Amino acid sequence: MLSHLLRLHGIDSIVLESRSRDHVEDRVRAGVLEHPTVELLCRNGLGERLKQVGLKHDGIWLSFGGVRHFIDMKELTAGKSITVYGQNEVIRDLIKARLDAGAEIAFEVENLSVHDLESATPRIQYRHNGAAHEVVCDFIAGCDGFHGVCRPSIPDGVLSVYGRAYPFAWLGVLAEAAPSSEQLVYTHHDRGFALFSMRSPTLTRLYLQVDPEEHIDNWPDHRVWEELKLRMTTRDGWSPHEGPVTQKSITPMRSFVVEPMQFGNLFLAGDAAHIVPPTGAKGMNLAIADVAVLARALREFYANGRRVLLDQYSESCLQRVWKVQRFSSWMTSLLHRNACENPFDRRRQLAELEYVVNSRAAMTTLAENYVGLPLDND
Ligand code: PHB
Repeated sequence: MLSHLLRLHGIDSIVLESRSRDHVEDRVRAGVLEHPTVELLCRNGLGERLKQVGLKHDGIWLSFGGVRHFIDMKELTAGKSITVYGQNEVIRDLIKARLDAGAEIAFEVENLSVHDLESATPRIQYRHNGAAHEVVCDFIAGCDGFHGVCRPSIPDGVLSVYGRAYPFAWLGVLAEAAPSSEQLVYTHHDRGFALFSMRSPTLTRLYLQVDPEEHIDNWPDHRVWEELKLRMTTRDGWSPHEGPVTQKSITPMRSFVVEPMQFGNLFLAGDAAHIVPPTGAKGMNLAIADVAVLARALREFYANGRRVLLDQYSESCLQRVWKVQRFSSWMTSLLHRNACENPFDRRRQLAELEYVVNSRAAMTTLAENYVGLPLDND
C-alpha cells in the first residue's frame, strides 16, 4: 500500500517480501475493512474488485444469553459501514496494481538485514534467486510484521514496549457453506466467545475462543461444528450452516505497542510496531492508516525537503494506535470468557453486555470505533 501511494506521487520504492506471491495472495487472514480504509483504497485506484465482490455491511449482531441484538452502525454513524473483503484479496489487488505499474517486488528474499539506519543512506542486504543484493536508499519502511527483522534491528534501549498476552486464542475455520446471516455475529457464551463471519456468498468464516495451549489436532471438524453450534445457536433457532472445512488454524492473541515507531530513517508500520487482538477487526486497517501517514510525510519531504511530518510520524500514528488498542482490548474483554475472572467480574461483564445493547450512547461508541475513526492524515 505504501509503495502504491508513493508511486502516485512519483516516489520510487522496492518491495522485499520473504514469502512467495502465492503464499501472500492465498493465506486467509482477517477480513473487515473500515469505512475510511475503503475510501482510501477507492480514492487511490484500488476499488474496482473491492466494489464488485466486497460485502458491504451496515451493522453487526451481538449475541448473548441466546438472543441476538443488532447494532445498526449505518444509522448510528450517519451512514458509515464496513466491508467484508479478505486481507489476502487486498494484497492481491495491491500486487497487481504495483506490477501493472512496472514496479519491482522481490518475493522469497532471504537473509534480509538492515544497516546504517541513522545515516542518510540506510542499506538493506538480502539474497534473491541465489544472488546477494544490496539496496542503498533514503528511507526504509519496516512493514515486516511482528516477527520481522526491522524492529529488532533498532538498538537496545531506544524502544519502550507495552503489551499483554491474553489467556486464550482463536481457532479459525473457513467452510464451504453459504453464510446463514448477512451480517457478522459476535457471540458471548458461557463456554467462550465465538464469531460468525464470511468471505463470499458461498464461504463462511468462523472462530472459536480456545485455550492458547490448544493443539489443532484436538479439533477434528465434527468437534469444531459441535462447539460452534453449542455457542452460537440462538433461541430463535439461528445457527451457522455447516459445510466442508477447507482451512483451520489457531492464533494466539496479544496487545503490543512499541514507541517510538521510528529510528533514524527506519519507519515501522503495521504489526512491526503494534498488534491488536482480532476482536475489533482492526489489524489491517491500522497498518493501512500508518502507511497513509508515512506516504504523506514522504511526499512532503520529496516535494519541499521538509522533515517535519517525518519527525512527527510516530506521534501521529500512535494517537490512532492507542485509541484502537483501547477499543480492541475492550471488545475482547467484553466478549471472551476469562479463566482468571471471579464471580464479580463475570456479573460486571454481563451487565456491560446488557448496557451496550440497550443504550444508544454505548452502541454509538461501539459503532463509531468499529466503522473506523477518521483518517485525518492522508
Ligand atoms: C474475519 O472475517 O476474519 C473477521 C471478522 C471480524 C473480526 C475478526 C475477523 O473481528
